[in-house]
Amino acid sequence: MTHPRRRPAPLRREAVLATVPVAVAALLTAAGPATAAGTAGASGVGDPYFPLAGNGGYHVSHYGLTLGYDPASRHLTGKAVLTARATQRLNRFDLDFKGLKITGLTVDHVKAGYRRDGQELVVTPARPLRKGRSFRVTVTYQGRPGPVTDPDGSLDGWIPTDDGAFVAGEPQGAMTWFPANNHPLDKSSYDITVTVPKGSTAVANGVLLGQRTRNGRTTFHWRQKEPMAAYLATATVGKFQVKQYTTRDGLKVYDAVDPREAAAAAPVLKKLPSVLAWESKLFGPYPYRAAGSIVDHAPNVGYALETQSRPVYDGAPDLSTLVHESAHQWFGDSVSLTSWKDIWLNEGFATYAEWLYAEQHGGDSAQKAFDALYARPATDGLWAFPPGNPGSGANIFGTPVYARGAMTLHVLRTTVGDRVFLRILRAWAEQHRYGHGTTAQFERLAERQSGKDLGRLFQTWLYDQGKPQQP
Ligand code: ARG
Ligand code: ZN
Repeated sequence: MTHPRRRPAPLRREAVLATVPVAVAALLTAAGPATAAGTAGASGVGDPYFPLAGNGGYHVSHYGLTLGYDPASRHLTGKAVLTARATQRLNRFDLDFKGLKITGLTVDHVKAGYRRDGQELVVTPARPLRKGRSFRVTVTYQGRPGPVTDPDGSLDGWIPTDDGAFVAGEPQGAMTWFPANNHPLDKSSYDITVTVPKGSTAVANGVLLGQRTRNGRTTFHWRQKEPMAAYLATATVGKFQVKQYTTRDGLKVYDAVDPREAAAAAPVLKKLPSVLAWESKLFGPYPYRAAGSIVDHAPNVGYALETQSRPVYDGAPDLSTLVHESAHQWFGDSVSLTSWKDIWLNEGFATYAEWLYAEQHGGDSAQKAFDALYARPATDGLWAFPPGNPGSGANIFGTPVYARGAMTLHVLRTTVGDRVFLRILRAWAEQHRYGHGTTAQFERLAERQSGKDLGRLFQTWLYDQGKPQQP
């Protein structure tokens, strides 16, 4: 960790301590108010930090997004086809979609009614949808997309750059460029087709199925087959140098690099196959068939994101950032959150992967990283709030989530021993592969694998206020 880190902004606010406990079961069945005509899908899945994120009453199995973007005018045209299934009778349901103008909306090819209310797009199909029914929503739209400002003050969503757009959606921004069930509880496959002026490149998730240039415009067709949360989708556009190759393990790598970042990025990106191979040894098989990196030149962004199969960086990353975003492919992307409150399951794990990588590649031991952090005084921001209960959406990318989250894993490791610790990480990745996991499930798994009562440990490190006593 010799380079300055480009990481989410440190906390800018004090922790808000009140939280709303929400059972996962309740999240999964969030139902809207019953009306005489039927039922309406809820306007959110019940996330305590982002109450309007996602929607109730249906799941999306596939998104087909067809976009056109002109970097010069910053104009986007879009068509989104969502294949979904009703989990309750629906006389209306919501999508999350903010900003862009809607030019058409159908449900099963029949014009549907809609109105907009902030980020909620309230759709009323011509006829109510029976519970269990599959249906298709088609939305056409256009305009000049822009980002949302997150509770922590950072930008997220469609972020225009000087030659295109940096597109990242954690936690909220997906809805700035496509209508979505915008919560990690709902995961889907994606086809993302983007047309840009010839000479520009549009990079999304998964495998590049095809690329063709016609009449001065180039169309890129990407497919992400394995389930993906909406926040992990990207369609980053820019003037990129592209490199494609297949690794010894058969992964299809696609790197897109802004020429201004190329010299600094090259030695780091070169390591991606060996980083993924090392992480596969530790965490189990890499979850995707595609890989790669998008290195943009976006100095106003200030963070990188683990966009599925192909992280996006706001500038040339250092090696530990590449290790971090790669580890998220297991922890965060394949194993997803059910609630943003559990964010340490993403950030604590990815940070601990950095520590393990350093330890096994001639750098500092994880113990040394732990000790350096533990030496910080009780007044340091590191101890401002507990990672298992950040308190609000403004804190989910704060230092305690990353650093004290990783410290929690280190204390677990020293308590159960290296072998059992790695078994726990692997079992976590395997048992929840392509699905979801909660903090409570992780605690139970660690206890099962170790045969130890770890209640005290997790209580102290994840939930207690203030600096914990020396472990
Ligand atoms: N998950 C990203 C990382 O750890 C950080 C995303 C920060 N996003 C934000 N809107 N502040 O690399
Ligand atoms: Zn991260």
